[in-house]
Amino acid sequence: MSRVSTASIKDKKLQQEKITMLTSYDYSTAAMVDAAGIDMILVGDSLGNVVLGYENTLAVTMEDMLHHTKAVTRATSRTMVIGDMPFLSYHISVPEAVRNAGRFIKEAGAQAIKLEGGTERIDTVKAILDAQIPVVGHIGLTPQSVNQFGGFKVQGKDLEGARKLIADAKALDEAGVFSIVLECVPNGLAQKITQEVSVPTIGIGAGPYCDGQVLVINDMLGMYKGHIPKFVKKFANLEPLIMEALKGYKEEVEAGIFPAPEHGFTIQDEVLEKLY
Ligand code: KIV
Ligand code: NA
Repeated sequence: MSRVSTASIKDKKLQQEKITMLTSYDYSTAAMVDAAGIDMILVGDSLGNVVLGYENTLAVTMEDMLHHTKAVTRATSRTMVIGDMPFLSYHISVPEAVRNAGRFIKEAGAQAIKLEGGTERIDTVKAILDAQIPVVGHIGLTPQSVNQFGGFKVQGKDLEGARKLIADAKALDEAGVFSIVLECVPNGLAQKITQEVSVPTIGIGAGPYCDGQVLVINDMLGMYKGHIPKFVKKFANLEPLIMEALKGYKEEVEAGIFPAPEHGFTIQDEVLEKLY
C-alpha cells in the first residue's frame, strides 16, 4: 500500500471521511501505529512532556526532534510522518525556519512539518511551502505560547478570541497548509472553523465536528502517570498492566523462577566437561 499523501488527507474531507492522527516518538510504537492504519503520525514536541520529562515543550530542541523523527520514519511505510517544529526553530527568521523545516525532510525522512501559530506565522508558512515542504497548521491552545497565555487554557471562548481563531484558520488555509490542528477550542467554534476552511481540521480537545482527531499516544494508551487533560479518552489503561509485569519480573528473578530451562541455551556435555 502506498503512503498516505497530503492529497489523500484533503480528499478525506471532501468524502466526509474522518481522519486519524496519533503521536509517536519511537520505532516500536510507530510500527504499531503504522500497522493499525492510522493516517498520520505526528512526532510531537509533546516529546518534551511524555518522553523527556520536562514540564512543558519549550526546552525541546531540533536535535531532540530529529533524533525521534528518524526512529519513527524507520518504522513506517504507510502512515504519513509529520515532524513538529520545536520552540525557537521557526521564530528567529524565515530562512532559519525553512532550513529547520527542511531538516525534518532531508535528515529525518518526514513527509511534512507542523508549526504553531496563525496570522503571525503566515510568511514563515509560505516560505516553507515554497520549499516544497507540506505544512500542518496548529492554532488554539498552542503550548509553545504557555508563557504568553499564562497557562494552558481553552482558547477562543470570547467573541474577539473566536474571531481571531477563525481569521487564523482562514489565513493558514489561504497560505496552503494541508490541514490545521485545533487544540482546546470550544466544540461550536471548531465546527464553525471546520466549515470555513477548505482543508481538514484535526481536533484535540475540539469536539466531534472536526474532520479528524489527534491524541498523544501515551495519554490514550493510559501509560502516562502525569496530568491527563479532560479531553483525553483512555482507549487502554496500560500503566497498571506494565506495573504488574515489572513486579512479576522482580519477584520471579528474586525467587529464582526466571529464567526457566526453556529460556536458556545448551552446551554439549563433552564440551562442558573439558571446562572443569
Ligand atoms: O506535540 C504534540 O503532541 C501536538 C499535538 C497535541 C497536536 O502538538
Ligand atoms: Na506540539
